[in-house]
Amino acid sequence: MKVLGIETSCDETAAAVVEDGRILHSNVVASSMDLHAQYGGVVPEIAARSHIEVIMPVIEQSLEEAAATWDDIDAIAVTYGAGLGGSLLIGVLTARTLAIAKQKPLYAINHVEGHLYANFLTGTSLPGYALPASQPVFPVLGLIVSGGHSQLVYFRDHFDYTLLGQTQDDAIGEAFDKVAKILGLPYPGGPSVSKKALEGDPFKYSLPKARLNGKYDFSFSGLKTAVLRLAQEQIGEDFTFPSTALPDRLNDLQKADIAASFQRVAVETVVDKAATAYEEYGPRTVIIGGGVASSPELRRQLSGRLPLPVSYTDPKLCTDNGAMIATLGCYKVMLGAEPADPYALDIAPNLSM
Ligand code: KG4
Ligand code: ZN
Repeated sequence: MKVLGIETSCDETAAAVVEDGRILHSNVVASSMDLHAQYGGVVPEIAARSHIEVIMPVIEQSLEEAAATWDDIDAIAVTYGAGLGGSLLIGVLTARTLAIAKQKPLYAINHVEGHLYANFLTGTSLPGYALPASQPVFPVLGLIVSGGHSQLVYFRDHFDYTLLGQTQDDAIGEAFDKVAKILGLPYPGGPSVSKKALEGDPFKYSLPKARLNGKYDFSFSGLKTAVLRLAQEQIGEDFTFPSTALPDRLNDLQKADIAASFQRVAVETVVDKAATAYEEYGPRTVIIGGGVASSPELRRQLSGRLPLPVSYTDPKLCTDNGAMIATLGCYKVMLGAEPADPYALDIAPNLSM
């Protein structure tokens, strides 16, 4: 049973073919990231226009890479939320059209749920993928850490989950991106802050961890502001000093120490909650999804704090991709979930878990 997955919720146009929710046959991702880099963040109009230009070639390439024809595809799965409205529309309208034209059942996928399903892929014929040796076993504790989301979820089984907590403001990846801007590091901020942090002392500065009412909720906006104040202080200026002028005034060591201290605290924030949830719920597996899941610091801290080995998937499957959407689509098919109406499926930009 093979599912074609389509993902266009942000700046990646992606399509992939997955078999039986465990075997990856193709994974094609075209990113418009280079076009956004000069603006320091994703520009929704540019993202939507890029999706229109490349979506059909990306889908065709994903079939080709999988050596599949439309006859081999049993269903189409598409991200319908959460994400940028204009971007989601392109994926959903394309998937609806293909479902009708090729007479395939259509499945609407929640992008955030999808991120965790990348961890169910354990086999591939594609070169260059480091996949976990075995699939997650329920009950599963899932941590989603991406540019748009920070969520902690307890899964009793497929589709049977409780959202334990989530960010009340910025997502963790967004905080990395904003700190990168303060330090003048290139976009996307996560990998560049990570790299800079290698040269710094993670205990040089103490930065605040948010205290929230929800036991498993996160907050990163206070931490980001604290980094801004710290940077201003380090160059002997007050809070009125413009953040855009900071990169020229901070020296390399200050940047590295700020990056390392920020990264330690941001990662500790999510690892603390994951460790508490692990103790309370006693899951059999812990899985991580989203772009920040490829952070070496997150992996290091989690291994130190959890008593069970956490297996991670390939970094190419942590950031946005069609494979995670196709994988969740497979489980929808295999477990008899209701398909979407290809004449009516709408986008849901603010969809939550
Ligand atoms: O999952 P993703 O591709 O997009 C969303 O669904 O939001 O995640 C992208 C995010 C960006 O904020 C990026 O800065 C962050 O993941 N990221 C990292 C690392 N690699 C990517 N953050 C910290 N450390 C990394 N190594
Ligand atoms: Zn994502």
